[in-house]
Amino acid sequence: MSYKIGVIRGDGIGPEIVTEAVKVLDAIAEKYGHTFNYEEILMGGCSIDATGVPLTEEAIAQAKSSDAVLMGSIGGNTATSPWYKLAPELRPEAGLLKIRKALNLFANLRPAYLYEELKAACPLRDDIIGDGFDMMIMRELTGGLYFGERSTKEVDGVMTACDTLTYNEDEIRRIAKRGFDIAMKRRKKVTSVDKANVLDSSRLWRKVVEEVAKDYPEVTYEHMLVDNAAMQLVKDPKQFDVILTENMFGDILSDEASMVTGSIGMLSSASLNETKFGLYEPSGGSAPDIAGKGIANPIATILSAAMMLRYSFDLDAEADAIENAVKQVLKDGYRTIDIMPQEDDKKGQVTQVGTVQMGDLIVERL
Ligand code: IPM
Ligand code: MG
Repeated sequence: MSYKIGVIRGDGIGPEIVTEAVKVLDAIAEKYGHTFNYEEILMGGCSIDATGVPLTEEAIAQAKSSDAVLMGSIGGNTATSPWYKLAPELRPEAGLLKIRKALNLFANLRPAYLYEELKAACPLRDDIIGDGFDMMIMRELTGGLYFGERSTKEVDGVMTACDTLTYNEDEIRRIAKRGFDIAMKRRKKVTSVDKANVLDSSRLWRKVVEEVAKDYPEVTYEHMLVDNAAMQLVKDPKQFDVILTENMFGDILSDEASMVTGSIGMLSSASLNETKFGLYEPSGGSAPDIAGKGIANPIATILSAAMMLRYSFDLDAEADAIENAVKQVLKDGYRTIDIMPQEDDKKGQVTQVGTVQMGDLIVERL
């Protein structure tokens, strides 16, 4: 089969980690007889430098005409980069929010899984880790605080800023259905996370989730307040299967979940709309502090490419091949710096490698 893949390399470590994911995709294409045609799309700081805006209409059109988009990361150092002297709607992150909205990518899947081999990189105690854990964070991506009205103005002589958190029942229903659908293919448990003891938007969220749950009698579901969820993630992460939550809570909890799995450099993600189209990106940021050093972990991006094969192209065997190659490379003892064991006695048992070498080692194991 032949597919057109939009490629957003972006900023910081983005170009380095995307190069490795494309290398893996090319190896898959050769092995399984597919053709992947890549189209480079500008977004983020590099787009600001080239065009003055973080995402052009042309870039949106390019993404729309692709079968799926693979992305690295966007943004720079918020304290030092000139991009952050621009108005908020002209900064790199605005490009990402704009593409999510323009392509209606409301369902963000972030799988957090503890690899047996990475237990040493997990900051939790052995008795908490147990046999490991495997959860899917289902984050609503086109509503809530990220897209509500905002303003900063003087009110009675005092500077006042305002952000609004809005959800309608349709937006909640479609993400809840996705969450329960995914749970049906997993361990059939949904934890819906909200702040219903305080927020109206959360009370509506809870009501709609309860309605949707009626159509999935096989799925066990529970509601959990977000502050408690943050605590439970480090206290007993094994209890979670699918975590279903709104945009901002999902942003925060997915970073926390990634650290629990050892490193944000391992966490892939898929942002999907109602069709087969998706934007696939590592959950981590552009890490400007390590950009260009050749040490960034490309695994989250490589696993995001695997998600693309699975969710947008229905190429399950090819996706499995990538995921197994990643497991094998870890089993064989190769680690980028972010997933090196902390204890000195364990460091000798593994080999530290850079970004390119990690990509090569994964390709060798396909
Ligand atoms: C993420 C990122 C983005 C978000 C930023 C870069 C706008 O943190 O994908 O989690 O907050 O959604
Ligand atoms: Mg985030």
